[in-house]
Amino acid sequence: MTLLSGFSKFNREQRINYLIQNSLLKSDDAHIFDDYRAPDGNQQLVYSEMIENYIGNFPIPMGVVANMVINDETFIVPFVTEESSVIAAASKAARFWAERGGFKVSVQGMVKKGQVHFTWNGKRQIINELFPVISEKLISTTDQLTEKMRHRGGGITAIQLIDKTEELPDYYQVDVSFETADAMGANFINSCLEKISSVLQNINELNNDDYNVEIIMAILSNYTPDCLVRCWLECPIDKLDGWNKKLSYNVFADKFKQSVDIASIDISRAVTHNKGIFNGIDAVLLATGNDWRATSASAHAYASRDGKYKGLTTVWLDKETFKYELELPLAIGTVGGITGIHPMVKSTLAILKYPDAQKLMMIAAAAGLACNFAAIASLITTGIQAGHMKMHLSNILNQLSTNHLESELARSYFSVKPVSYAAVEAFILQLRHENELNE
Ligand code: MEV
Repeated sequence: MTLLSGFSKFNREQRINYLIQNSLLKSDDAHIFDDYRAPDGNQQLVYSEMIENYIGNFPIPMGVVANMVINDETFIVPFVTEESSVIAAASKAARFWAERGGFKVSVQGMVKKGQVHFTWNGKRQIINELFPVISEKLISTTDQLTEKMRHRGGGITAIQLIDKTEELPDYYQVDVSFETADAMGANFINSCLEKISSVLQNINELNNDDYNVEIIMAILSNYTPDCLVRCWLECPIDKLDGWNKKLSYNVFADKFKQSVDIASIDISRAVTHNKGIFNGIDAVLLATGNDWRATSASAHAYASRDGKYKGLTTVWLDKETFKYELELPLAIGTVGGITGIHPMVKSTLAILKYPDAQKLMMIAAAAGLACNFAAIASLITTGIQAGHMKMHLSNILNQLSTNHLESELARSYFSVKPVSYAAVEAFILQLRHENELNE
C-alpha cells in the first residue's frame, strides 16, 4: 500500500472518490455521505470544519428520558445512544424514583488540575526553597490569559511543586489547580500551562551555568478527583416493592446489595457494572457536546483509587432504609468547546433549560445512576435479555429488511415470546415461505 501525502488538502469529493477507488466502498453507496448533511449550509459548515479529513455526518439516535426528578426539579433529559435498551431502562428507573423522592445530587468540588512536567538537575533542596518565589511569577505570567475567567469566578486557585525525583531522576512537576466556571476548560488550562512552561524554562532562578530546566510537556490532567459529584437514591425499604411484583422488597434489597458488593470485590463484574453507569452518562455527554472519553478515563481511574478497581456505587441497607449512591469525577461544561456551535447541542441545552456546569454534572450523574439502578434491578429479577432483546427487535427486523406487514406480525408474535436473532429470522423466513405458497 502506498502511503498518502496531502490527503487533508483534498476536497470532500476527492476524498470520497479516493475511497471508492481504494477501498471496498461502492460508488452506488457513496450517497450515504450526502444523505445526512444538514440542509442549512451554515449548520453544515460547522460539521465540515469541526474535524480534519471530513467526509460526512454520522447519525446516532437521540431520544429523551422523561420524569427525571433531580433535587426536586423535573427534567426531560436528552440521551444520544446507539444501544436499544438504554433509554427504556433509564426511563423506567426515572419514573420509579420520581415516586420515591427522586435523585438527590450534590457537587463536591469543581477543581481541575494540570501539570508542567520537567527535569531540573540541581539540588532538590534548592528548588524546593526557591519555588514559593518562582510560583508567584509563574501565576502572574498567565494574568492576561486568565483575566476573563477570573471575571467569571474561575482562574488559577493553587500552584505547587511536586518532587518526583525518587521515582525518576531530576523529574518534577508544577502542579496547577484551576476553576473553570461553566467551561470544561481544557483549552484554557492547556494555554495557561504552556505559558507557565515557557517562563519556567528561562526563569533566572533555575537556569544558570550549574543547572537548568528541561521542559518535557505541559498538559491538563483528565484525572479530576476534585471535580466530584455525588448522586443518591433513598427510600423506605418497603417502597422497593414496585419494581418487580415477584420479588418481595426485602429480598430485592438484599440481592441488590449483594450484586453491588460483588462489583466492589470482583473486577470482571465491576467493569460491567461501571459500563452500565456510563450508558447514561455518556449518552448525556454526547448529547451536550462534552468529552466523554475524558470523563470515562477519569472515572475508571477513580474506581481504582485505593489500588483495586471497584464499582462506583455503594448500597447502605438497614431494616428500614435503602440508600444507593454513585460518586464520581465529572469534568464537563456548558460553555466553550462545541457547546455553542453544534446545532444539536444547542437544542439539547435548551431542553435541559440551559444548565450551568454544576447542574449538568448533577443531571449526568443522575442519568448514570438511573441506568445502573435499572440494570441491577433487572439483573436480579427478570435478567436483562428480555427487555434488551425486545428493544433490539427493531434492529433485527431492519437487518432482515422486513416490510411493514412482516414487522407488525413479528412485533405482535414476539410481544409474548423470547426474542433472539435466530427465532426472529426463522419466524420471518416462515412468513415468506407461506406467502410464496399462497401466491
Ligand atoms: C448493558 O449495556 C449494561 C449492563 O451490562 C450493565 C450491568 O451489567 O450492570 C446491563
